[in-house]
Formats: sequence, structure tokens, C-alpha cells
Amino acid sequence: MPLLFVRNDITKMQVDAIVNAANKTLLGGGGVDGSIHRAAGAKLLKQCLTLGGCKTGEAKRTDGFNLPCRYVIHTVGPVWHGGQRGEEELLSSCYRRSLEIAAASDCESVAFPLISAGVYGYPRAQALDVAVRTIQAFLQTHDMTVYIVLFDRESLQAAASKFGEVQAYINDRYVQQAELSDERYRASRPSPKRRTWGQYVPRETEDAACPTAAAFREETLDDLLQQLDESFAQMLFRKIDEKGLTDVQCYKRANIDRKLFSKIRSNPAYKPGKQTVIAFAIALELSLEETKEMLLKAGYALSHSSEFDIIIEFFIVHGKYDVTEINEALFAFDQKLLGA
Ligand code: APR
Repeated sequence: MPLLFVRNDITKMQVDAIVNAANKTLLGGGGVDGSIHRAAGAKLLKQCLTLGGCKTGEAKRTDGFNLPCRYVIHTVGPVWHGGQRGEEELLSSCYRRSLEIAAASDCESVAFPLISAGVYGYPRAQALDVAVRTIQAFLQTHDMTVYIVLFDRESLQAAASKFGEVQAYINDRYVQQAELSDERYRASRPSPKRRTWGQYVPRETEDAACPTAAAFREETLDDLLQQLDESFAQMLFRKIDEKGLTDVQCYKRANIDRKLFSKIRSNPAYKPGKQTVIAFAIALELSLEETKEMLLKAGYALSHSSEFDIIIEFFIVHGKYDVTEINEALFAFDQKLLGA
């Protein structure tokens, strides 16, 4: 199930549970703790008073009261002292314990702030890595949608700073929309030949990239429909078998939820979105050519006039198939995320 990054105020998140970066007293404070208490109202503090505090790395649950969520899970992150006092394990424990409480409370969706990355001084990029690794490990065995809510500029920059080489790759390839005006594009292509009903006459093509076009002969539409290629779904399931994956392994790696996968499994003619096709290509670790082939079968193509497509191409040509890492990059470049 998906791990997603969102830019938001966590008190606005409409999820089953939000996580609060609290302190040991659980009696409120500044930062996200203060925002959550203000938004939830006085009843939250009243319930916190009954909890008897919380140890670092541990977590406790209250109701959400005036917040648009059912629960608030309060966890206490470690204060950063340079990384030699077990801070990483304590921070990881905050995410793990919060997720365990969420699962035990039948939550299907949870939103985290970047715990300890504010007042407690944990370096943001490292705090993000710990969060992603811990949440990803949990999602291997649990179906839940987990959001990491990035709030301040520094956190966004922490996500973006990890992807400088992606920016260079984009700069080298990105065809600015303004350059590719409709007029110039139309002028570069021959006008389509007149089509006679019942016969499909292909558009002339200059490039040798479609050798079958040269061998193409006039046929009736019925002939062509008899020669339909393998569909997207057929290629997907063939690749799952070839890779020796189970359906569950495939859709979890793709960050796709079970319901969507079941739709494709039960309806071979199902038309997935472009991001979904790409998510499966990543999960199956397809080459760039195989990815283009799978996209074509679903009616899509990769384009250098799309930053999203160039980022995907970057990760594939560099053999990097971690969907969460790709989503961090997509998030950092303000693009739609894979999965969910
Ligand atoms: N929504 C989402 N994220 C937020 C929000 C918000 N409304 N407000 C702050 N954040 C982000 C911060 O930008 C930071 O990245 O939450 C992250 C955690 O920062 P802090 O709230 O300072 O929490 P932390 O570093 O864990 O320190 C906890 O601060 O507020 C006190 O009582 C709290 O003593 C405890 C300490």
C-alpha cells in the first residue's frame, strides 16, 4: 500500500489518525504539537492528562476531537545530540510504535509530520530517511495509506536536495512547453492521408522507427482488429510470471492498492492511468524500452516535454527502482506521485 508525500498542515489532513511530535509530558508545546492542540480543542489536553506522559520512542493514542481525524497518536521523538546516542533507533521506534497503534485501531490512513526535525534538531534529510525506511518496512506486511506531511521550506528543501542529479538530467532533456508550440509541431508532420471507410491507411512516416509501417499493406479494419497485440494487462501478468513475483509483491512494490490491482486482474480490458502503468513498470524493474512498450499497450508514451516522464526515465536508465525514492523526487519537483 502507498507511502505518499504531501505538502500540508497536518491539522487539515482528513485521515483516520494523525501523529503528533509531542514531548514527554504530552501536555502540548510549540511546533506541530501546539498546532494540533489548538485545532483539537481543550478536550485533547484533558485526555492527555490521563495518559501519564510518554517515553521517548513510545506512542499513545487519544481521540481527535475537533480535528478532521478519528485519533491523534502522540509520540516523543529523540532530541538530536549528534547521532551517537541511539537517536536513529529511537526515531524509528516513534514511527513503528505509532503505526502499530494505528493498525491496532483499524486505521486505514495515517499522517506523520517529520518527527524530531524541528525543535528537537534532527537533521531533516536524515529524519526523512528514517521515516521512509521505517514506514516502508511496516507497509511490507500491512495495508495502510501513510502520508508524510512536509510543512516548512527546509523540509521541502531536504527532500529536494537529495535529487540534484535528477534536476541536471531534467535540464538536459526537458523540452520547454513554449518551445514546442502547436504551430511548429504541426509543420513538422505530414498531413494524414485521406482514409477510406473500412480501410485503415497509415499516416506516412519519415522515421525508420516503424519498420512495420513499410511492410504495412492496406487491410480492412476487421483484419487489423484480428491482429490485436498483447494488451497491457496481458503484458503485465506475463512480466509478473517472468519475474517470479506474486501479485501482492508486484502491487506493493508499485505502491498500488490491492483494490486497483484486483480491478485490472478481473478486467483485462481495464484502462489504467499513465502513473499506474509506470508504477508497474518500476515494480517489475522494466528497461526503458520495455516501459515504453507497456505504456504503448495502454495508449501512452514517455515524452521529453514532461518533467514527470523525464524523472521516471532518469530512475529507469540509472537502474533505480525504489518507488518511494522516485516519489520523493517527484514530490520534490511538484509532480504527481506513483501509486495510490
Ligand atoms: N503540520 C505539519 N508539520 C508541521 C506543522 C504542521 N502544522 N507544524 C510544524 N510542522 C513540522 C515542522 O516543520 C517539523 O518539520 O513538524 C516537524 C517537527 O517539528 P516540531 O513540531 O518542532 O517537533 P519536534 O522537532 O519533534 O520537537 C518536539 O517541540 O513543539 C514541541 O512540544 C513539542 O517539545 C516538543 C518538541
